[in-house]
Amino acid sequence: MDRLIIQSIEGRVLAGISMFVAIMILLGWVAINEEARMAAFREQHLGRSIERGAELFAANCSTCHGSEGLGQGGRAPALNSPHYFGFDALSDVNLAITTADRLIGGLQEESDALNTEFLDAENPPSVERQDEILARLAEIDTELAEQQAVREDSVAEREALLVSLQPAVERGLFPIWDTIAEDDLTEYLLTNGARLSQVGWTGDLHGFTVTTLIHGRPGSGVVWPNSEGMAAWSQTAGGPLRQDQIEDLTAYIINWDKGDEWTIEDFFAVEQYGKPLADGSIPAGPPKVFAEDDVDAILEFWETEGLVGDPERGQSLYEGVTYGCASCHTGGAAAPATEGTWTRINNDVLPLLEGYTAEQYLIESIVLPGVYDYPNDSYPMGAMPANFGDRMDHQELLDIVEYLKTQE
Ligand code: HEC
Ligand code: HEC
Repeated sequence: MDRLIIQSIEGRVLAGISMFVAIMILLGWVAINEEARMAAFREQHLGRSIERGAELFAANCSTCHGSEGLGQGGRAPALNSPHYFGFDALSDVNLAITTADRLIGGLQEESDALNTEFLDAENPPSVERQDEILARLAEIDTELAEQQAVREDSVAEREALLVSLQPAVERGLFPIWDTIAEDDLTEYLLTNGARLSQVGWTGDLHGFTVTTLIHGRPGSGVVWPNSEGMAAWSQTAGGPLRQDQIEDLTAYIINWDKGDEWTIEDFFAVEQYGKPLADGSIPAGPPKVFAEDDVDAILEFWETEGLVGDPERGQSLYEGVTYGCASCHTGGAAAPATEGTWTRINNDVLPLLEGYTAEQYLIESIVLPGVYDYPNDSYPMGAMPANFGDRMDHQELLDIVEYLKTQE
């Protein structure tokens, strides 16, 4: 006992506690820093990939695409360009115009319906109703005038913007926009404002870049008088580059994105914009993998593919015309209300269903709406279309599920 360094029991207990506290502090410190360390590691990894990509670009691509990736007249298009990254200088003003058009259309429809009702000889409106109709027609006139003024201002603003973009137009931005009929102009500008929508690519920019590098653009030499066009670079297609080199080049190109920070000067800096493609020179976007209707298989696919849902994209799918979820579910009009879906499911439905998670129930409700009758409601079973699983790909379904989870 004499040999022990700390003699008293109290002393030993105190030393034990101090050691314990010190270890916990150390563990906490490591835990806090682990995430930062991993992030730094990923950043370093990406940084090195970009550096290797930059070297490959200088050696193989800059002769055609320019050393800064700004393109060269008649030789190759810019990749370091707001257009390539989908930054559309006209999108706000185009949106203002389409919104005004939609409101004007709605007001005109309403006014037509009221006029028909007013003049209906077989079923004439009461005097009171006539007064109501006249009052509403007067309001509609004012609202129409307001919207038409908004539209005119926006069209004028767009014209001014197009004039100021003229140097870029001369280098291929919005090709031949001034030959497009007035009625089609908004649609044309909306689809040509970003490279991906211009060529009709349904995937993302990373996939577009990688695919172009792998396959090249057969036949594109015809469109480009000062070069032989874009070759296939991947070893799998007879080119010189390995897949990891293609990924490095792509990382380097994607690294040019400035997000919302692109400026009008960037539009002018581009020497050559992309051109409409030679027929059939681009493989169609990645094929859709439909979700289908096996709930367990769906969850397993999401897990193994590491899919991550995007609730904002889910919201626009939910509210869009393609699937029309909102048209039945909004405000509880023809189906359980969107608002509160997640809370309702957890509080009201799950206690009645054994062995389901809220996520499983949600997926099942969308892809197999006929399986379970929503409890205590007056909405008919069978009203909801039963084929969403055949129409949505996995990512779309996951995005919608993530959106519904935000409905607390
Ligand atoms: C001989 C000239 C030439 C070389 C070298 C070249 N490209 Fe291209 N590249 C083109 C042309 C021309 C196009 C446009 C083809 C078309 O219009 O379909 C193009 C298109 C592209 C596109 C798609 C752009 C878009 O908006 O459609 C990417 C990405 C691309 N090249 C990357 C590269 C990379 C990376 C390298 C180097 C490994 C490279 N290119 C080497 C001529 C070249
Ligand atoms: C034609 C109308 C209609 C459309 C379109 C529609 N639904 Fe439904 N939906 C219903 C009805 C009706 C029910 C309730 C059925 C019942 O009582 O079992 C329902 C039930 C649900 C439920 C389970 C009930 C709840 O809220 O907890 C979910 C989740 C759901 N729908 C999601 C969607 C999604 C996502 C879409 C679009 C991809 C969609 N619905 C499109 C009519 C529709």
